[in-house]
Amino acid sequence: MSNRKHILERFRLDGRVALVTGGAMGIGQAFAEALGQAGAKVAVVDINREAAEETRQMLVAQGIDAMVVIADVTQPDQVQRMVDEVVAHYGQLHIGVNNAGIAHHHDSETLDIADWDRVINLDLRAVFLCAQAEARVMLKAGYGKIINTASMSGHIVNRPQNQAAYNAAKAGVIHLTRSLAAEWASRGVYVNSISPGYTRSAMTEQFVSTPVGQKMKAEWLSLTPMGRMGTVEDLQGAVVYLASEASDFMTGSDLIIDGGYCCW
Ligand code: NAI
Repeated sequence: MSNRKHILERFRLDGRVALVTGGAMGIGQAFAEALGQAGAKVAVVDINREAAEETRQMLVAQGIDAMVVIADVTQPDQVQRMVDEVVAHYGQLHIGVNNAGIAHHHDSETLDIADWDRVINLDLRAVFLCAQAEARVMLKAGYGKIINTASMSGHIVNRPQNQAAYNAAKAGVIHLTRSLAAEWASRGVYVNSISPGYTRSAMTEQFVSTPVGQKMKAEWLSLTPMGRMGTVEDLQGAVVYLASEASDFMTGSDLIIDGGYCCW
């Protein structure tokens, strides 16, 4: 007779409170749903009120306790308010998923510095702002799981499109994750990241909806050992694992989920 807790029980998130930035759509929405299905209460954080409300209703229809927080995560005061609203509503915060991000393709020699700033501000600086505000609550409680959405672009340079700002931001997220993990591990706050490969969402649809985009997509698929794009469902298991006690000895790690892209 084993005295170990059942492995599936160790993936349960009952009684946990989570927030997901960029939770109204795409990957963030799938993360919010997965955490909720595993038992967590979920705050959907986004700038898009209508989509966030629709997502909340989709979660509630599944019996998940969910709330909406409207916040632009590039703004420090709004990030602080985001955490304050979640704690005021649910009493605590155990899981912070810092996922909101944008992609931008442009050749570097003609890249407008305003576009560089826009990408770095959301894809890297906002991840730090969110982790900092979340950790202030979690460190006080001596427990927390922070999960940042990085990208395979933090490991490899994509082709054929040029996207130096995005790649640099995502590489930054991976090393920021390690840095925060090292800082907070002894105080019970664990920080990991997920690096998706090409995944079907509004972000990628905007690129592949044109004839040039279709050619680009064909190249992406030819560079992917599994020969397909990922779906948001392909990422749901990883976020539950990293949010749960099943990953309790893991911090500072990055989970690459890319159909094998980084193997080549
Ligand atoms: P998406 O564009 O479908 O969704 C992004 C969400 O973030 C939207 O709901 C949007 O309203 C929200 N958002 C944008 N700016 C915000 C702000 N300032 N404050 C709060 N919310 C904001 O994007 P997708 O594909 O779901 O991407 C999510 C994350 O996954 C991003 O960090 C992205 O870089 C990353 N990722 C995506 C990949 C893909 O192929 N789709 C591949 C690798 C990483």
